[in-house]
Amino acid sequence: MPKLLKIITHPNDILQKKSQEISRETIKSKEFQILCDDMFETMIKKDGIGLAAPQIGKNICLSVINSREEPLYIINPRIIKKSWSKEWGEEGCLSVPNVFGKVKRNSKITCVYIDRNGKKIKISPKGLMARVFQHEIDHLDGILFIEKAKNIKNN
Ligand code: NI
Repeated sequence: MPKLLKIITHPNDILQKKSQEISRETIKSKEFQILCDDMFETMIKKDGIGLAAPQIGKNICLSVINSREEPLYIINPRIIKKSWSKEWGEEGCLSVPNVFGKVKRNSKITCVYIDRNGKKIKISPKGLMARVFQHEIDHLDGILFIEKAKNIKNN
């Protein structure tokens, strides 16, 4: 049974540190696979659309994203292309509870990463999914959306 992980909230150094790349050996390990399941469970239970490993206290390059079809496990992601066009959209974050703000993001990106099966993936999300990718990859670089947001509201 997957378990609920504790979510770290701002301010905390872990959230502002750059995360480490994950080796293929680690990806194959039972411990890592369990972590993937636990992070997915935690994201769903907390009503998140994405969750990055630093948010549960681990500075490693792993994020889970709740796409409509199936959860995406994003390991060692790299954005290799960004659209010229950008758009503003409201964001929140499980690590910054009850705070929302508008963030300008690229409308479309191309990202390469490894999935939890060790497969190399190339994906070009747009709109909301492009936004979620950029928000989650920022977490792995130690960046929180509140550093980029305007019209920050405390609910
Ligand atoms: Ni977040």
